Amino acid sequence: MSSDNIISEPMPRHIAIIMDGNGRWATAKGLPRTAGHSAGMTSLEKIVRFCSDSGVKYLTVYAFSTENWKRSSVEINGIFKIMVLYIKKEIDELDRKNVRMCPVGEWSDIPGAAAKSMQYAADRTAGNDGLVFNIALNYGGRREITDAFRDIVKEYKESGKELAPEDIDENLISEHMYNPEAADPDLIIRTGGEKRLSNFMLWQCAYSEFVYSDVLWPDFGPDELMKCIKEFNSRHRRFGGLDKE
Ligand code: FPP
Repeated sequence: MSSDNIISEPMPRHIAIIMDGNGRWATAKGLPRTAGHSAGMTSLEKIVRFCSDSGVKYLTVYAFSTENWKRSSVEINGIFKIMVLYIKKEIDELDRKNVRMCPVGEWSDIPGAAAKSMQYAADRTAGNDGLVFNIALNYGGRREITDAFRDIVKEYKESGKELAPEDIDENLISEHMYNPEAADPDLIIRTGGEKRLSNFMLWQCAYSEFVYSDVLWPDFGPDELMKCIKEFNSRHRRFGGLDKE
């Protein structure tokens, strides 16, 4: 689908995606799981391009969770190699499209080559003001909230101020999330048929709309994304309030 086709549909400001189903896609084809992640990379290329072309402001993808370390080292190393390849392949175009790449999570703990290429992509695109592309990497929602509290306490300690209970409010916590500048996601999509959040954006999802797609991530493209956006646009968001008479 070209982005010309979507002008009539309003786009959410922030879309977050749990890219699930790579392993099942590969197994169904008799391929190793890493082949599913490679195919998943191709889907990601298309989705990022499409979001950038269609005026989405923030795209956040769940690329590697704090729980994914439980997988085999072959699979883990395969995923990180694919990330290095993705940046090598896509960085010129992403930069040209004014996309800003922001790895979020404890991503500096990932293997050296992958951390280095993420750092390179973040540095190179830091001045861009188009699509903000957050890559959640070694990310856990509970860890993010824990880190936010640690940072708050550390900052108070370093400044010599006492932290009073009333100093803690929602704004202060939000300001200490990994990418505080990113608005909360309007739409969270999970592909691959499962219906759970798996420790993704626990703080930010308070009023997000959830759309679940049965399509496995390697088969998910702009057409599938537009189906999810149509579903999102058909919902009526009240943010806890009531409909106006
Ligand atoms: C979940 O599917 C997918 C992942 C844990 C890895 C996602 C990684 C990519 C799409 C590679 C490209 C990423 C970047 C940032 C370039 P699963 O393996 O849990 O699938 P399953 O539920 O079918 O086993």
